Amino acid sequence: PLYHRAEYLLNAPNLKTTPKGVEYEVAFAGRSNAGKSSAINTLTNQKSLARTSKTPGRTQQLVYFKLDDQRCLVDLPGYGFAKVPPKIQQQWQTELERYLEKRQALHGLVLLVDIRRSLGEYDRQMIDYATHLNLDVFVALTKADKLNRNNAKNTLFAVQKQLKDSPGNVQVELFSSLKKEGVEQLHNWLDEHLNV
Ligand code: GTP
Ligand code: MG
Repeated sequence: PLYHRAEYLLNAPNLKTTPKGVEYEVAFAGRSNAGKSSAINTLTNQKSLARTSKTPGRTQQLVYFKLDDQRCLVDLPGYGFAKVPPKIQQQWQTELERYLEKRQALHGLVLLVDIRRSLGEYDRQMIDYATHLNLDVFVALTKADKLNRNNAKNTLFAVQKQLKDSPGNVQVELFSSLKKEGVEQLHNWLDEHLNV
């Protein structure tokens, strides 16, 4: 399958250095430590394609993974990490907004949210900004394995309810990289948004 063939392509510090010739890409966003890189590894069925870490906030770059000549997945730096100096954070914020607004190939945003923290202020801003730009959003409530079934389902329903009046096209699902939960749903959503 397409996703299992993913390979590292390049790191781009800004919009200008993003790869040419890519027609469809989906970006993975979320708080530091939410589980973005783990989700990319799970989706691609590779153990260490995207670098995961217990110490967040290291690189402020777009990390590109190539699926085929036209399609990529993009790992974004996590936001909300207090130890990143404010000036760097501000610069990155500007670059990120430019990327989201101007990148022609970008067709959707996967937002990773730790199910135990639920939606934070930055998550909401990200959803608002993406829908304002007409980008579809897939909210993956990840680390679902950390809650029992009832609590996971109840959190899912609560977040779906919070977002039901969002003007954009926002889908919310449970996800777990550890248990490989929600992988098929996210693959299907990616298929649609990468024109597979
Ligand atoms: P930054 O790149 O630093 O912003 O973090 P990230 O969002 O890429 O998170 P990453 O994938 O590195 O995961 C952070 C930590 O959460 C790691 O210790 C992972 O092993 C753990 N983790 C990620 N996904 C899951 C999951 O589904 N279940 C459990 N139990 N742990 C997870
Ligand atoms: Mg990461």
